[in-house]
Amino acid sequence: MRTSVGIIGAGPAGLLLSHLLHTQGVDTVVLELRDRGYVERRQRAGILEQATVDVLRASGAGERMDRQGLPHHGVELRFDRRSHRIDFPSLTDGRSVTVYAQTEVVKDLIALREAAGGTVLFEAEALSVDGVDTAAPSIRYRHDGAEHTLDCDLVVACDGFHGIGRRAVPEGVLTVSERTYPFSWLGVLADVPPSCEELIYAHHERGFALHSMRSPQVSRLYLQVDPDDTVENWPDERIWDELDTRFAVDADWRLARGPITEKSITPMRSFVAEPMRHGRLFLAGDAAHIVPPTGAKGLNLAVADVTLLARAIGRWAADRDESLLDAYSETALRRVWRAEHFSYTMTTLLHPAPGEGEFDRRLRLSHLRYLASSPAGSATLAENYVGLPVV
Ligand code: APR
Ligand code: PHB
Repeated sequence: MRTSVGIIGAGPAGLLLSHLLHTQGVDTVVLELRDRGYVERRQRAGILEQATVDVLRASGAGERMDRQGLPHHGVELRFDRRSHRIDFPSLTDGRSVTVYAQTEVVKDLIALREAAGGTVLFEAEALSVDGVDTAAPSIRYRHDGAEHTLDCDLVVACDGFHGIGRRAVPEGVLTVSERTYPFSWLGVLADVPPSCEELIYAHHERGFALHSMRSPQVSRLYLQVDPDDTVENWPDERIWDELDTRFAVDADWRLARGPITEKSITPMRSFVAEPMRHGRLFLAGDAAHIVPPTGAKGLNLAVADVTLLARAIGRWAADRDESLLDAYSETALRRVWRAEHFSYTMTTLLHPAPGEGEFDRRLRLSHLRYLASSPAGSATLAENYVGLPVV
C-alpha cells in the first residue's frame, strides 16, 4: 500500500491530522492498534481550550461539539474549606474553555474520516518505521494476521506514549526530560448531575480532588491516591466519603451521589522527547510529550501539534517548500514547554506529596492564596488554563 502521509495512531492527534490533511487534498492512511469500539470508549480528559474549539470548528469537525459542548467561563479553587472562583473572560480578553469529552472528539473525527472515504485501519499494529533518513520512509504493520508495508513520503507518529514511532529515531538523537510524581489519580464516571456549574479543583490535607463533568447528567470525579493503590481498594461508598471530606466547605454545598459506572487509576508523569522530527519522521501528541492531567493540557497540545504539522505538510505538498516542516519541532516545543510548566505548577500546587515537610505545605497554601486573591496571580492561572495564543 502507498500513501503520502502515513499516520500511526487513531487518537485525537492522528485522526485530526488525517482530517486536516484531507481538507488540503493530501492523502493519508491511519494505522490503529486497537479496534474502533475501544478507541471510541476509552475515557480521557474533557477540556477544550478556545484554540482547540476554533480548529475543530474551522475544519468542519465542530458540529456536535457546538451543540453539546458546555462553555465554561471559570473554575473554582477550593481550599481551607472555602471556594475561590477564577473568572476566565475578564482575565483573558474574553477567552473561555469548553467541556466536551475527548471520546466525543474522537467519535466525531472517525465519523468524518469515514464519510470522506478516508482510510483508518483498525486492529493494524505498526511494528517499525524504516528509512526515516531517506526520501521513501515506510511503516511495517500487522493486519488480519499478515505483515504489510505502507510506503510513504512522510511518517507521523501519533501513537501515544507507549507507541513505536519514537523508537524509530536513531539512538542518541532524542533528548528526553521527565519526571514522575509520587501519586496517581483515581478517576470515576458517575450517572449523577454535576454538583457544580464549573470545575472544582480542591486542595485538602488528605489529598487533591477534582469535580469535572461529561454532560448535564454525568459527573467525572478524581481523587489523588498512592501510585501503588488499586481500584479494588476503593468501593463506591469509600470514594463518595473521601470526595465529601476533600470537597467540604463552610457553606451550603453538597456533593450529589449516584451510580459509579467506571473506575480507573492513572499515573502522573511529565515527559518531553525532542526534537519532534527526525528526517521524514515527525512526532505529535503523547508520542512526544506527556503532561500530568491537572492543567487539562494533554489533548490541547496534541491538537496544537497537528494543527502546525497540517499547515507545514500542506505547504510542502503544494510546492515542496520545507520551511514550515523545518520549523515544526521548535515551534511546537515552545507551546509544549509552556504547558509542561503550567501542568507541573498546577500539580505541585494542588497535591500534597507523601512525606513532605511543613515548609512545602506552607508554601503551597501561600501560593494558593496568592492565585485566588491577587488579580495578577489569577490572570496567570486563567491565561494558561484557557491557552496562550502565542508563547
Ligand atoms: N500501532 C498502531 N497504533 C498504535 C500503536 C502501534 N504500534 N501504538 C499505539 N497506538 C495507538 C493507540 O492505540 C492509540 O489509539 O495510538 C493511539 C494514540 O492515541 P492517544 O494515546 O490518544 O494519543 P494522542 O492522539 O497523542 O492524544 C493525546 O490523549 O493520552 C491522551 O491525555 C492525552 O489527551 C491527550 C491525548
Ligand atoms: C476531565 O474532565 O476529565 C478533566 C478535567 C480537568 C482536568 C483533568 C481532567 O484538569
